[in-house]
Amino acid sequence: MNDDIKNPAAPPTEAVLEVRGVRRAFKRPHGEPLVVLESVNLNLHKGEIIGLLGRSGSGKSTLLRIVAGLIRASEGEVIYRGQPLHGAAEGISMVFQSFALFPWLTVLQNVEAGLEAQGVPADEMRELALRAIDLIGLDGFANAYPRELSGGMRQRVGFARALVVNPSILLMDEPFSALDVLTAETLRTDFLDLWIENKLPIQAVLLVTHNIEEAVFMCDRILVFSANPGRVVAEIKVPFKHPRNRLDPRFRQLVDDIYSRMTVRAATGKATVLSIGERLPEVSTNLMAGLIETLASETYKGRADMPALAQALALEVDELFPLAESLQMLGYAELESGDVHLTPLGQQFALADTQVRKIGFAKQMLTRIPLAAHIKNVLDERPGHRAPAVRFLSELEDYLSDSAAEQTLSAVTMWGRYAELFIYDDAAEAFSLDMPEAETT
Ligand SMILES: Nc1ncnc2c1ncn2[C@@H]1O[C@H](COP(=O)(O)OP(=O)(O)OP(=O)(O)O)[C@@H](O)[C@H]1O
Ligand SMILES: [Mg+2]
Repeated sequence: MNDDIKNPAAPPTEAVLEVRGVRRAFKRPHGEPLVVLESVNLNLHKGEIIGLLGRSGSGKSTLLRIVAGLIRASEGEVIYRGQPLHGAAEGISMVFQSFALFPWLTVLQNVEAGLEAQGVPADEMRELALRAIDLIGLDGFANAYPRELSGGMRQRVGFARALVVNPSILLMDEPFSALDVLTAETLRTDFLDLWIENKLPIQAVLLVTHNIEEAVFMCDRILVFSANPGRVVAEIKVPFKHPRNRLDPRFRQLVDDIYSRMTVRAATGKATVLSIGERLPEVSTNLMAGLIETLASETYKGRADMPALAQALALEVDELFPLAESLQMLGYAELESGDVHLTPLGQQFALADTQVRKIGFAKQMLTRIPLAAHIKNVLDERPGHRAPAVRFLSELEDYLSDSAAEQTLSAVTMWGRYAELFIYDDAAEAFSLDMPEAETT
């Protein structure tokens, strides 16, 4: 075993890949371009698994696609083997979140498909594919079709297809997140075993994830990504040897620290300077009320440690963060050094009855969420007190991607409905005020 490389305490060796000053913007039909990545720098060293940890929409997949040479950076460059990367490069391969297998091909043919572009002779192709299939624990399944396989086995095919080309760099975009908890853990451990035992051709791995524990479990270094635009805001070394124990107090402490770093960002971020185009987390008011009540309970007395809370509520980072953030946006809670705590307003909410809650919620929306105030103003001013949703959607699309714009409008719709601020007519796809007499004119 190559202990000098795969020992986290060892000094980093040469960079096998460098991302330098990468910026990526997407053109929008109207308004400003959407800047998804800004000034991203990172180095991948030989023997390292690097984690890119960030919230949904922070540009992780976009960065991975740039590193894979699938799309271009607007500025900056990727240096691979000492040369700027142009287009897909030999030696860099990728495992995706969804398996993207050809359903009409067998496992063997799916894996061979990874080699076809390279013009390898048929018998050699077969041999390489079978070797990759064996390596990743799929022996006996070469002639099976994807539909006959479980999710975990399908993802193994995804790994085999990425490995068959003998890559030196493996990019992984949330490869475990579509799998159930146990299957994901088995595959992570199997992958790590191969990696530690030097059975993989790979020199370095770049793993995208939104799962803090997964990053601490697998990576030697973790880069924390912020959103809007995505950039690296923290770099954390993971000093533990494999195999790692999730229950080890030092492991827990590091998970805790990363939560802190991610909440510091959220707290010093833009909570006070929201604009109409601010992305809203698509979180239901039921969940928000539930979290406020939980925090106010005897167990938490208004304050909870985020990792402990996530564990107690069986929520993933990607579920707890948006939820806590929505409370922060509305002024019911604050996020600070890995904790979430209720504000006096949050405490009041917990004690209030439904009607008082709704009135308070409407007030918070109008004062703290400019989009809600904007929709309300437009409806107030219009003679029929009605406006089509598409009007607000196209405004949001000037600031956000199409999917983020839709999520944001959906969030404000749910919240506004609860607060009885405005009505949304699903069939007509229009907002209106609750003024039946005005509507009949
Ligand atoms: N081709 C594109 N055109 C316009 N916008 C895009 C395009 N690709 C990505 N985006 C936008 O860029 C932002 C970042 O997307 P990306 O998929 O990189 O995020 P992510 O961090 O991988 O998110 P997730 O955790 O949800 O996978 C999003 O707002 C997305 O809608
Ligand atoms: Mg992604």
